[in-house]
Amino acid sequence: MDQSMFELFGGDGQISDLIDQFYYKVLFDQSLRSMFLKADMTRVRLQQKTFFAQMFGCVHTKYTGKDLVEVHKNLSITDQQFDRFLYHLKCILADMNKPQELIDSVLKRVDSHRHVIVFK
Ligand code: HEM
Repeated sequence: MDQSMFELFGGDGQISDLIDQFYYKVLFDQSLRSMFLKADMTRVRLQQKTFFAQMFGCVHTKYTGKDLVEVHKNLSITDQQFDRFLYHLKCILADMNKPQELIDSVLKRVDSHRHVIVFK
């Protein structure tokens, strides 16, 4: 059987590092920061780690957070903001020395959720 993206990525520990570094960058980005001012970032990070583990194909993880449409629909997130989100992910994945092929697959998988995040 092919290895899942979860295994290729290095499991829960690596996902945890990715998400922690990612939201650190996001909260310093002027074009994204304001969206998160009222958010419970401990919760967001925790739920995002579960979401990413499931999205990467971890068979032991089930995302039990809020529905993505419900969470994002009133935030009026633009395509440009979503692209910044992907840009930060790309930079951190490169900093983590992940292979280019894996980086491309991760970005593609995250981008496949654009339609439930961007409503503007
Ligand atoms: C520009 C892009 C994005 C922005 C500005 C954004 C913003 C937010 C905000 C403000 C929250 C907290 C909402 C609240 O506590 O009420 C949140 C939660 C969350 N977002 Fe996003 N988001 C973006 C993209 C994404 C993407 C691409 C995904 C998944 C692929 C995602 C998954 C989640 C998850 C899992 C939560 C936690 C839900 C929960 O608390 O149960 N977001 N997001």
